[in-house]
Amino acid sequence: MAMLQSKSHASAFPRCLLATSLLLLAASLSHAQTKNSCLDCHSALPAQLGVTQEQFSHDVHEQKGLTCVSCHGGDPSSDDPAQAMSRKAGWKGPIERRQIPQLCGSCHSNPDFMRRYNPGLRTDQLAQYHTSVHGKRLAAGDSKVAVCTDCHGVHDLRAPNDPQSTVYATNVAKTCSHCHSDAHTMAGYKIPTDQYAKYTTSVHSQALMVRGDLSAPTCTTCHGNHGAAPPGVASVPQVCSTCHVFQAQMYEKSSHKAAFDSAKLPGCVVCHENHAIAHPTDAKLGTGPGAVCMQCHTPGDRCDQAREQILSQSTQLDTAIKAADQELALAEASGMEVSEARLGQNEARDALTKARVAVHSFQVKEVSANVQAGLKTANKDLAAGQQAMVERNHRRIGLGLSLLAIAIVLPGLWLYIGKIEK
Ligand code: HEC
Ligand code: HEC
Ligand code: HEC
Ligand code: HEC
Ligand code: HEC
Ligand code: HEC
Ligand code: HEC
Ligand code: HEC
Ligand code: HEC
Repeated sequence: MAMLQSKSHASAFPRCLLATSLLLLAASLSHAQTKNSCLDCHSALPAQLGVTQEQFSHDVHEQKGLTCVSCHGGDPSSDDPAQAMSRKAGWKGPIERRQIPQLCGSCHSNPDFMRRYNPGLRTDQLAQYHTSVHGKRLAAGDSKVAVCTDCHGVHDLRAPNDPQSTVYATNVAKTCSHCHSDAHTMAGYKIPTDQYAKYTTSVHSQALMVRGDLSAPTCTTCHGNHGAAPPGVASVPQVCSTCHVFQAQMYEKSSHKAAFDSAKLPGCVVCHENHAIAHPTDAKLGTGPGAVCMQCHTPGDRCDQAREQILSQSTQLDTAIKAADQELALAEASGMEVSEARLGQNEARDALTKARVAVHSFQVKEVSANVQAGLKTANKDLAAGQQAMVERNHRRIGLGLSLLAIAIVLPGLWLYIGKIEK
């Protein structure tokens, strides 16, 4: 029935078809090439069947000289749909979702073929895909999972380094969210649908999406693209450590590492979350809102005492830096030269950063070493600021005195001049 319908449908086409294809040919003379009746006809068909010249011209495959038949088969030299889309001419028919990875892989997993175009391109996408949660579920008959075209699009499929590609770093999260934030699609799976909403509040999203910092992670940086799966408990710190090297080194050596591993706790994520990672402050080390230590430690025990000391040290340096900053700003506003102390403040701030990295050793002495170095600098800078203010005050007193002297001399001078004139 469907076949009959399509035939009668198609036989009504030829005339307008010829016209369209002539138009298209004229419009794309620079593109003059062998006939492509597939595009000629489909570009005039309604949306579900339509593939326009405009779309396809952005497609990386078109740009590399591939055409419709490279993926679909058929005879592109014939305007007769029955001939163009005949199985005899190799037409593959409608492509079902579950066949898509195999289709894409027929070229992309073939190193001999791909080398001719781009020897540097990886050829493991399909192999990786088979290891992903998406690939495994598809193999088990679940076609709601992502296949190649859900992430990459089709017919206007762009290279990943094209900023308009659906898999370009700043577009990936949106692409994943089409399914992962859609309660309807995800109904029936026992996982949350808040990853995107949470991710967009994170420091990582702020860095990537707002500041355009391409070194910050998006979904696929942590999950992999073709092998997408949640990082296992043991590999979470490894994922984070690809970027946060120093925190990870400290953590690896700490007693938390062994304790968390044996309790099957996901390392960094225990204290920082995975998707909604926020800018940490000293409050994390405290006992109030946002605190993380007291979910495991008991007030007053050995570890809690260490926490208390780490917190007070860190706060002390933070306060000292702020006090020095304030004094130096005051001195500068009064026109005093304090650039050297200003430079020193950067050193103090570095020490605070190092101290916060050293928190991940969970050892007071590691934090303390950095805090003491920072305090020395910050206190020196504070003193320089205070000294500058003392100097300014001296200058002001000096200026005041000379003004006073002038004020006393002037009337006398006035009187004296008046006297001479008389
Ligand atoms: C003269 C117009 C015409 C030409 C030429 C033509 N097609 Fe089609 N094509 C159609 C129509 C109409 C349908 C819808 C038929 C149906 O629903 O059974 C269709 C269906 C398809 C479908 C299946 C869509 C689906 O999912 O149901 C694919 C794929 C396709 N064409 C690809 C091609 C390729 C590749 C070529 C060139 C080798 C080609 N077509 C040439 C008109 C044409
Ligand atoms: C890189 C491989 C590739 C190329 C090149 C390609 N297609 Fe497709 N096409 C596909 C895949 C895969 C699907 C199935 C998409 C899906 O279901 O998500 C598809 C689907 C279609 C459909 C069904 C309707 C739709 O959009 O889902 C039509 C019609 C079609 N293609 C026509 C064409 C025409 C005409 C050309 C050339 C201008 C072309 N295709 C080039 C891979 C390709
Ligand atoms: C007929 C062979 C063939 C098929 C089928 C095919 N591709 Fe390609 N694909 C290529 C070639 C050739 C290139 C160009 C490689 C290059 O020069 O960088 C390419 C390029 C790409 C690129 C850009 C790579 C880059 O970094 O430049 C992506 C992404 C891509 N294809 C995805 C797909 C997807 C998804 C499918 C299935 C819908 C698919 N391909 C089907 C041959 C194919
Ligand atoms: C879950 C989403 C997703 C799925 C499914 C997916 N890809 Fe990709 N793909 C990506 C992302 C993201 C990139 C970009 C990686 C980057 O920026 O380095 C990419 C990159 C590519 C590239 C460029 C070379 C490379 O490996 O980085 C090719 C080719 C490619 N994909 C083909 C495929 C094929 C073929 C399939 C199906 C077997 C597929 N992809 C399935 C997300 C996906
Ligand atoms: C076409 C819809 C769709 C798209 C697009 C999609 N996914 Fe999925 N994904 C699913 C479905 C459905 C599951 C199966 C859920 C399950 O088994 O728990 C899944 C599972 C996953 C899982 C495993 C979750 C678990 O614990 O079982 C991860 C991780 C994942 N996807 C990451 C991604 C990433 C990253 C992207 C974007 C690059 C993406 N997905 C794009 C539909 C999609
Ligand atoms: C900074 C790394 C990172 C980024 C970025 C990230 N994830 Fe995750 N994601 C994780 C970790 C780690 C887990 C495992 C959770 C655990 O073990 O506590 C996870 C778990 C998941 C799961 C399993 C279900 C769940 O919620 O626990 C899905 C699905 C998922 N992420 C999808 C996404 C999507 C979609 C994005 C982008 C919008 C994303 N992730 C961004 C690290 C990340
Ligand atoms: C691809 C690199 C990369 C990965 C992977 C990564 N991050 Fe980040 N992270 C960044 C960048 C870039 C920033 C932004 C730094 C800034 O704001 O200047 C950042 C910021 C942070 C911050 C806030 C730092 C601050 O001073 O505000 C925390 C906390 C953090 N990440 C934790 C994690 C955790 C936990 C993981 C693993 C689940 C992780 N990151 C994975 C690159 C990464
Ligand atoms: C037991 C809890 C805990 C664990 C586990 C943990 N952190 Fe932290 N992290 C903290 C605390 C507390 C701070 C905030 C220190 C401050 O601001 O006083 C912090 C701060 C940070 C910062 C910001 C440093 C800065 O310059 O302000 C980054 C980045 C970070 N952690 C990454 C990681 C990574 C990566 C891991 C895993 C290797 C990890 N953390 C494991 C508690 C933890
Ligand atoms: C998920 C539970 C958990 C969280 C959260 C946690 N700890 Fe621990 N901590 C442990 C366990 C378990 C040990 C190892 C057993 C022990 O030494 O008592 C430990 C050990 C310690 C030690 C002893 C380290 C040593 O080398 O002797 C200190 C100090 C410590 N934690 C401080 C903290 C601080 C500070 C925080 C908050 C930033 C924190 N812990 C968060 C469970 C946790």
